[in-house]
Amino acid sequence: MYIKSVILKDYRNYKNLFIEFNENVNLIIGPNGQGKTNIVESISLMSIGRSFRTSKDKELIRFGCESLYSSCSFNKRNLDKKIEIIIQKDKKGIKVNGVSIKSIQELLGNLNVVVFSPEDLRLVKDGPKERRTFIDKEISQIMPRYYNILTSYNKILNQRNKLLKSYNIDYNLLDVYDQSMADFGSEIYVIRNKFIKKLANISNNMHKNLTSGVEELKIKYRNQIKFDDDNYDIGEVKNKILELMLENREHDCQTRTTKIGPHKDDLGIYINDIDVRLYGSQGQQRTASISLKLSEVELIKQEVGDYPVLILDDVFSELDQNRQKMLIDKLENIQMFVTSADPLHKHILSKNKYTIFNIDKGEIVKIENGGK
Ligand SMILES: Nc1ncnc2c1ncn2[C@@H]1O[C@H](COP(=O)(O)OP(=O)(O)O)[C@@H](O)[C@H]1O
Ligand SMILES: [Mg+2]
Repeated sequence: MYIKSVILKDYRNYKNLFIEFNENVNLIIGPNGQGKTNIVESISLMSIGRSFRTSKDKELIRFGCESLYSSCSFNKRNLDKKIEIIIQKDKKGIKVNGVSIKSIQELLGNLNVVVFSPEDLRLVKDGPKERRTFIDKEISQIMPRYYNILTSYNKILNQRNKLLKSYNIDYNLLDVYDQSMADFGSEIYVIRNKFIKKLANISNNMHKNLTSGVEELKIKYRNQIKFDDDNYDIGEVKNKILELMLENREHDCQTRTTKIGPHKDDLGIYINDIDVRLYGSQGQQRTASISLKLSEVELIKQEVGDYPVLILDDVFSELDQNRQKMLIDKLENIQMFVTSADPLHKHILSKNKYTIFNIDKGEIVKIENGGK
């Protein structure tokens, strides 16, 4: 999969931009605050319908303007496709191949994008919430239906927590919420379990490659229902959730929040059987994060049959030269968008065909082509 071109009108600091990309490496360089991330942000907007930096769509509209237009033409398995997004103050319209869509679910899975930014290097070190978000975003790309299940689950979880905070708790309503949470929750457990197993295999190989076989990376699904069996029955999973919810009901009523459910899940990450989040060095934590992130690229390829495009937003300056090379060497057949304030980074790209876009105050001031 590769992006051919992007058009931005009144998007952030771009008044009118038409940019044609290289099928291989696109290096977007320029001093800070010129609009490098804005370009790759627009690509992720067209992939998942929202920015990776903000949940407030109207922040994307250029200051002083009423609306923005963005479009992305891309090639997927030899078919040309197009996504267009218009955002007006509180409204968002999305078209896929010229046809308006009604829900984000219809957009997901069209343009597959993996974004790697400096925060992702903390994936291993951060809290469970970041790791859950990592898992959820990836599954949603591969399986758009999952996004809807998750949205429904989170809605009920909010309602349940609100109920728990009310003065007189309506226990009949609580029963109803518990049933729904167990319905959606059991689906989430089953899907996450399957996904994490696949990711575990790929990331184990990836990490061996990246560390010349010295380190063995294992990831494990951490959940409250001790669910890691492949011979599951979704009904059993649901019953287990209901059982635990009932056991914890008094506790929930006291603390006024929900203790049981996939919203508490986590990923255990181990190198040579040691919990790397607690005991790993910073270098190990970062390399493990790179392995997980790159595994995502491989997993999408396995599931969708095509590589996603990869965005590396400002990650290079965070890595030492070894890890920079490691990253680039693994990624030969993938379309990449690399942003950096440091023009020297082009030397590590010499193996690939590349285009360099020099950005200054929301405009492309110079384009250079190079590589084999
Ligand atoms: N809605 C907006 N309208 C106009 N300019 C914006 C808007 N949002 C951000 N900007 C401008 O975009 C620039 C930051 O762009 P960004 O892509 O994050 O920079 P960088 O090149 O460092 O990645 C800043 O100059 C900021 O003022
Ligand atoms: Mg930036």
